[in-house]
Parts: sequence; C-alpha cells; structure tokens
Amino acid sequence: MKLVSGNSNRVLAEAVAGYLDIPLSKCMVRRFADQEIFVEIQENVRGEDVFILQSTSFPANDHLMELLIITDALRRASARRVTAVVPYFGYARQDRKPGPRTPISAKLVANLITRAGADRVLTLDLHAGQIQGFFDIPTDNLYAVPVMMRDIKERYAANDLVVVSPDVGGVVRARALAKRIDAPLAIVDKRRERPGESEVMNIIGDVEDRNCILFDDIIDSGGTLCNAAEALLAQGAKSVTAYITHGVLSGGAVARVEGSMLKELVITDSIQPTESVRKGRNIRVLSIAPLIGEAISRTALEKSVSSLFD
Ligand code: R5P
Repeated sequence: MKLVSGNSNRVLAEAVAGYLDIPLSKCMVRRFADQEIFVEIQENVRGEDVFILQSTSFPANDHLMELLIITDALRRASARRVTAVVPYFGYARQDRKPGPRTPISAKLVANLITRAGADRVLTLDLHAGQIQGFFDIPTDNLYAVPVMMRDIKERYAANDLVVVSPDVGGVVRARALAKRIDAPLAIVDKRRERPGESEVMNIIGDVEDRNCILFDDIIDSGGTLCNAAEALLAQGAKSVTAYITHGVLSGGAVARVEGSMLKELVITDSIQPTESVRKGRNIRVLSIAPLIGEAISRTALEKSVSSLFD
C-alpha cells in the first residue's frame, strides 16, 4: 500500500501515515510560472494499491486539479488501484439545480475524479448522502460522528443535553447523533414570513435549561450557527456548543465565531486549520486521522468499512 499526499492537507496526511505506520510516498507537486500544476511521483508504484489524500478545500479549484493530475500520474505509472481519499469534498453544496440553466457541479467533479482514473473514493460526511450515487465507482462515505460522540461524552452529562439541527435540511444527521448519545432533538426552523422582512428563527423542541449541541456538516461564513446560537439562548438554553465536521470558515468566519455566543466550535481537521483557526478563542479541532487511517487500512485489506460505525 502507498499513501500519496497533495498540498491541501499535509498535516492530516502525515498523521494518517503515522497511523498506518508507512512513510508518505515521494510526490513532487510544483507549478509552472503560469500556475499550471506539474506532478512527479518519485518512487515506483507499479502494481501498488495507492491512496491519495487530498481535500478539495480552499483554494478548491487548485486542490481539485492537483488531485486529478496526481491520479493521472499514478495511472500512467501503472498503479494497480487508485483510491481518492477526499476528507472534504468541495463543490458538494452544488448537488442539484437550484434554478433553470444552472450546473450540478458536484456531479461534474465526481465525473472528473472518475475520468482521471480513480478506482474508488473515500470521503467523509458528504453534504448530501446521495452524492455517493454521483460516482459510478465504489464510494465510501465515512462519518465523523464516533469522534464527536466520544468528545461530547467526555464533556457533558447526558441528562441535560439536546442535539440541535441548525436547519431543517440537517435533521437526519442531527437525529443520528441524538440517537447515539440518547439525547432529545430540537430543530431551528428559519423562516422569512414576508418578502423583505428579516428571518424569524423558530425553535422546534425544548431547549430550556439544556446544553445544546448544534450539529452540522459545514461551517462556512458562520452565519447559520451564530444566529442559531442566539436564538437558542433566547429560548432559555444553558449553553450552545457546535460540532461541525468541515471547518470551511471563509472570510471573517473566525472573528464571527469568536464574537458569537457559541461556547465552543468543535471542528475536525478534514480541512487543514489555518493559523487563525488554530488560535481561535473558542475553536477546537479534533483529528480524524485514526478514522481515515483505519478506513484506508480496511479498504486495502478488503475488510468491512461500514462496521467502523456499528
Ligand atoms: C447547509 O446546508 C450546510 O449544512 C451549512 O449549514 C451551511 O453551509 C453553513 O453555511 P454558513 O456557515 O455560511 O452559514
């Protein structure tokens, strides 16, 4: 087995290599003066089972292109099997046509990864489970929930917890966590009653005197979570902590989270945390390296991956 890393998340790749007790394979990725990407795999991979670790996070297009070019290089170097390990699958929010004459970019990206030569995909907390079906190659969608659940159990007593979905779209995901930690579920229902009026946040469920765990897949601008935290506290919640798999945290998101009423934002390292994220007053990062490492190991040994979540 070989593990190759692109430039998106080297720290995670090193940690996964440590878990697997193998060195990262030598792969040079450099740019021409006009920013074209050039890749050279600097060791023999003929007949090998190769895993490429690359999140298609910011800058999404560069990191996606790197993944495609590394895949092509490995194929042409006669790797036996190539698995794209994409802890954060960018473009996932474009999984349907929001209006006429718009693209379904998540499907396009799935096509590109497949056509570049990947035999399998391993990813984490896809924005929508059905994106798995955009690939016509085996695709495993891992869940960060066991990692989060362990952390929650270490910090909170189960009897005053409530898991909250920050929007109606995330209910299935939040319900899965609530069931595992045996806590009730609440939902933030965002609604604009009339055009031009600001959004009203209705809380469905009882949050009074409870520690709320907001659970979602992505934090980008932070708007969804910070507004939800305010609404929950206004309804009498004791505290609000957010557990989010992918810390996209664009623009001024870190400052917004720091200035918010969130007790803590807990994310994973599916996207390499920037310095400001690492130094964030109320931001903590959990590592998914053991989860990704174990899933890679099981894939290589043709063992069950789904049983990781039983
Ligand atoms: C939306 O469906 C996602 O699950 C997240 O709630 C959303 O991407 C968060 O975005 P933001 O942090 O910009 O509000």
